[in-house]
Amino acid sequence: MPTNTAAWIPARHRRLEVGPAPYTAPGPDEIVIRNHAVAVNPLDWVIQVAGRVAYTWLAYPFVLGADLAGEVVETGAAVTRFRPGDRVLALSAGTDRDANSAAQGAFQHYTVALERLASPIPASMPYVDAAVLPLGLSTAACALFQTHHLGLRHPVADAAPTGETVLVWGGATSVGSNAVQLAVAAGYDVVTTASPHNAEWLTALGASHVLDYRSPAVENDIIRIFRDRTLAGVVAIGPGSALPCVRIAGACRGNRFVTTATAPVTFENGFSLPRTLSGMVGGMASVKLAALRRGVRTRFVIGSDLKRNEVGPAIFRDFLPAALAEGRYRPVPAATVAGSSLDDLQHAMDLQRKGVSGTKLVVTLSR
Ligand SMILES: NC(=O)c1ccc[n+]([C@@H]2O[C@H](COP(=O)([O-])OP(=O)(O)OC[C@H]3O[C@@H](n4cnc5c(N)ncnc54)[C@H](OP(=O)(O)O)[C@@H]3O)[C@@H](O)[C@H]2O)c1
Repeated sequence: MPTNTAAWIPARHRRLEVGPAPYTAPGPDEIVIRNHAVAVNPLDWVIQVAGRVAYTWLAYPFVLGADLAGEVVETGAAVTRFRPGDRVLALSAGTDRDANSAAQGAFQHYTVALERLASPIPASMPYVDAAVLPLGLSTAACALFQTHHLGLRHPVADAAPTGETVLVWGGATSVGSNAVQLAVAAGYDVVTTASPHNAEWLTALGASHVLDYRSPAVENDIIRIFRDRTLAGVVAIGPGSALPCVRIAGACRGNRFVTTATAPVTFENGFSLPRTLSGMVGGMASVKLAALRRGVRTRFVIGSDLKRNEVGPAIFRDFLPAALAEGRYRPVPAATVAGSSLDDLQHAMDLQRKGVSGTKLVVTLSR
């Protein structure tokens, strides 16, 4: 049995500590992956900073991490899609309440992943590139395709144009850049927002317009673009994105539905219970009120929900493997390597918390 090591979060609010971890065999519908590269998400440091209110169910010591790429070492009895030696990427959903499983965290050498949240990757694709995808891709797919969110057509190899347009606010985020690509692959036009220096690569992904979300004129400019278009729905990503998106959707024709990925309170500057509670209540109330007034529906998305419905297999089994192999889907945002061992993960989380622009921080884990 392989020897495992993990970057543990020993208890709420504590810094990561590297130490021995059990090697866990896969359940019937699971695979074990030896991780070669893992990526850092805001979720990782948000749990560390705000564990008193975020993911309060986690059984510490715990292993964080949602994004991984590596090689399959063992498969469960019911798994037919993978065999040992396969190169894969996977979303680890260990922090979900129904999982609460350190064995499923990405920040260790061997991770147990659900077969339905894993995808083969091409031989030519470096693990570092593949690791950028899982949570951004999954969250975008949940927002766009789940029937209780925007319920859009699924991506296919040669999508016929739908004649409708999706607004993705925050296109340079991991979630946003995947939402742009997925919506385009499903036959939708895409209007997005980002800092001007990120416009070029978002246009290359297929966005027809990239507007600066810091411009005072951005809402009116987007409403003007939609004058002759039918709105397929909105994906709102980034702090403060929900309200402008609700106002824009309220002024458009089509599906006035804003699916939001960012909570009303952010924790970059630390955690305070009164600020968190007032921000949550006040932030949600102002968005709901604005939406009610304009006949706009809103709904928060949970990026791992696709494990429970048809969107999981539609993305990880039916779409992504061929799209990656044929170069129709790009690993975005581009990876920046922030370390080369489990010891570097805390530093990578600290860097993510300070803020990134159009990139994903990845730590390599080859031994
Ligand atoms: N609900 C879920 O399940 C779920 C899952 C994953 C992520 N999220 C949330 O989604 C958000 C994005 O996460 P991520 O990992 O995709 O992001 P990320 O890659 O860390 O985001 C960095 C990008 O955010 C953009 N940005 C910053 N402030 C913005 C604003 N006010 N409006 C639009 N864009 C803004 C910046 O764009 P420019 O560089 O162009 O300025 C930057 O490139 C976070 O709030 C995260 O907590 C939620």
